[in-house]
Amino acid sequence: MALIAHHLATHEDDRRRLIVNPATIPRAIEEFLRRYSIPTVARSLTRDTEIRGVAMKAGDRVMLPTCLPWPRRAALQEFDDGPTWIDVQTTTWLSVKGTHKCPGANLARVEIKIFLEEWLARIPDFSIASGANVRYLSGGVAGIKNLPLVWPTI
Ligand code: HEM
Repeated sequence: MALIAHHLATHEDDRRRLIVNPATIPRAIEEFLRRYSIPTVARSLTRDTEIRGVAMKAGDRVMLPTCLPWPRRAALQEFDDGPTWIDVQTTTWLSVKGTHKCPGANLARVEIKIFLEEWLARIPDFSIASGANVRYLSGGVAGIKNLPLVWPTI
């Protein structure tokens, strides 16, 4: 949610789109979840393998940042900025599937939807406080440590 708030605080066009047409919020959530996918999934190899010329051995450990896959539409349109490209009007969510599929995925979507609907209806204009020292977190789960936002008093 902090990364989404950061995006909307710094992208007025996207903010306006969601305010003018709240029906597009669910679609935008999928795009936010792709672009600001916070987990880095860790795995240990059970057997030797080779992927795109990279040889890996059983027992090797790999880290898979879920924010890195190249969005399909961005690839088609040859955007230069690959996975960092974002379009709140499209959907390119890539999710972890299989045994460890996130059981909280639907709850997370509902929470983000309520956050966006309620926040944007009450606080349509906001930005990052000038001079703020926004600090990011990395590791297994990325995020933002502090995000001072300001908005005009009503
Ligand atoms: C936007 C929010 C969320 C994201 C991006 C997310 C992402 C993920 C990912 C990528 C995994 C797979 C990890 C792996 O395979 O190693 C996972 C697993 C899991 N998630 Fe989430 N999750 C979110 C919200 C939640 C919520 C709200 C809950 C609980 C209420 C939850 C509970 C779990 C649990 C228990 C697992 C482990 C499943 C297993 O190993 O079988 N997650 N999540």
